Amino acid sequence: MHEATYVISDRELPPDKRFEAITQAAAALVPPGTDRIAAMATIASLLYYSLPDVNWCGFYRTVGNRLIVGPFQGKPACLEISFGRGVCGRAAAEQRTIVVSDVNAFPDHIACDPASRSEIVVPLIEQGTVVGVLDLDSPLPGRFTQHDAPFLETIAAMLLERTAS
Ligand code: SME
Repeated sequence: MHEATYVISDRELPPDKRFEAITQAAAALVPPGTDRIAAMATIASLLYYSLPDVNWCGFYRTVGNRLIVGPFQGKPACLEISFGRGVCGRAAAEQRTIVVSDVNAFPDHIACDPASRSEIVVPLIEQGTVVGVLDLDSPLPGRFTQHDAPFLETIAAMLLERTAS
């Protein structure tokens, strides 16, 4: 495996082309039957290094009624988050993707890295149950929009389909 084959390093690539290239890379890196933690680690790395202006990218996994930090790239973050708390807990509790353009305007935002200014959280839903979330942070306000949601939801669905919990 050679990194250049997978990481999308062209900063000028239009968003839709970037999404397509990353989705193809994810499919190649995570074949059906991959261990779930291995897949999470690989996807976190692929997204972190292929999406511009991202300072944290990773997974929290559901354990009981809490989210526990899983594979990620970026600075050390909160170890656990209760369902309903923060952006991650809210996305998990409401089973929907949440885009936060300005984390300072999100009353219950949990600041793991004070450099983070915007965030997107995608729930991982398996047979109606949230088994975790995919979380991305950016140091730029407004870095994420609803346009990012279908792409990240596709990546999340692929991860669940191709791995066993
Ligand atoms: N900001 C998140 C906490 C997790 S970190 O961003 C990695 C939240 O409010 O849930």
